[in-house]
Amino acid sequence: MQIRGCASRPATLQLLEDSLVLNYGGKPMHFNYVWLRDHCRSAASYNSQTHQRNVDTGGIDLTIRPDNTSVQDEHLILTWPGGHVTKYSLSWLAENSYERQKQSRVQPRVLWNSDIYKNANVPSAKWDLFMSSDDEVKKFLQNYLLYGIAFVDEVPATVEATEAVTQRVSLIRETTYGRMWCFTSDFSRGDSAYSQLALDRHTDTSYFQEPCGIQVFHCLKHEGTGGRTLLVDGFYAAEKVRQQSPENFDLLARVPIRHEYIEKSDTHRNHMTGIGPVLDLYPWNKELYLIRYNNYDRSVINTIPHELVQRWYVAHRMLTTELRRPENELWVKLNPGKVVFIDNWRVMHGRESFTGLRQLCGCYLTRDDVLSTARGFGLQA
Ligand SMILES: [Fe+2]
Repeated sequence: MQIRGCASRPATLQLLEDSLVLNYGGKPMHFNYVWLRDHCRSAASYNSQTHQRNVDTGGIDLTIRPDNTSVQDEHLILTWPGGHVTKYSLSWLAENSYERQKQSRVQPRVLWNSDIYKNANVPSAKWDLFMSSDDEVKKFLQNYLLYGIAFVDEVPATVEATEAVTQRVSLIRETTYGRMWCFTSDFSRGDSAYSQLALDRHTDTSYFQEPCGIQVFHCLKHEGTGGRTLLVDGFYAAEKVRQQSPENFDLLARVPIRHEYIEKSDTHRNHMTGIGPVLDLYPWNKELYLIRYNNYDRSVINTIPHELVQRWYVAHRMLTTELRRPENELWVKLNPGKVVFIDNWRVMHGRESFTGLRQLCGCYLTRDDVLSTARGFGLQA
């Protein structure tokens, strides 16, 4: 074990058998030697133009140790057997350390119930500016990332305009329902969405192995009563469960269940299944990133050992109770012109029953591409 000092800012190194401990900014961080060789940013090891690795990880000796290690001018300098030199800035190491990642969030969010959302007075984007100003799209995406919902107003009540507004944000994900879908209550598909019935809160396409990332709705016409849209922040409810019962939360995050969509009609034949837990968390920081909640599409539960089934139902009920609290329900009337974007990995949607003709159009977006657009604007996603 050696300890070396640093001239400019306090930084110490402790060399262990398979790793070193860097104490920088008052926090010890562990870096494995193979990791340090693997992440070398020298031109021979990493292409900074393409941001791709050149070094062959499979060729690194798993017992590798640097011959020489020092800290100079805010940099860690390692000389490897054979003479290759790796230089890391200490700030880069701190940023990319496990210890830092464990403490930070991948995506900052504001969790909400109805009052929190209303009091935040989140502005809607306006069609004209949204279509012409990238800065407006950036503001819209920032709200979308924080709250999981965002609105564009004054959109012409057509499928084409809805498609155009959507494409300002990202690529449209084509599914069995089409690219842009447009429906009325005509029971044209084997799904209760195509009726006048109320729909309880749910996430869509839970029967996909990767549920659709974003749901877009635009009500083009409604001649009748009812039909308000219900929005509920699933993460707000799930975090209440985590506070009340970590065991229940853990069970919902650990036990995979199946969702299923079966459609057999003259024109459509589908049989899809998606398998995963109700709650998905990043394992290193326990941050919630996906909720699957659809009581309509949940399939036969046969993936839970019998001694856990009762406990799973108790945990699921606790989540349902939170999701159904009236104070957590945000009711919105989607009049023609108002387009809503919903994070389908977080925010549930539903609707009250309605009368009369109601024409709705919309589409799904791929989550990867929406987040990519956001990161392009410098937003944390
Ligand atoms: Fe839905």
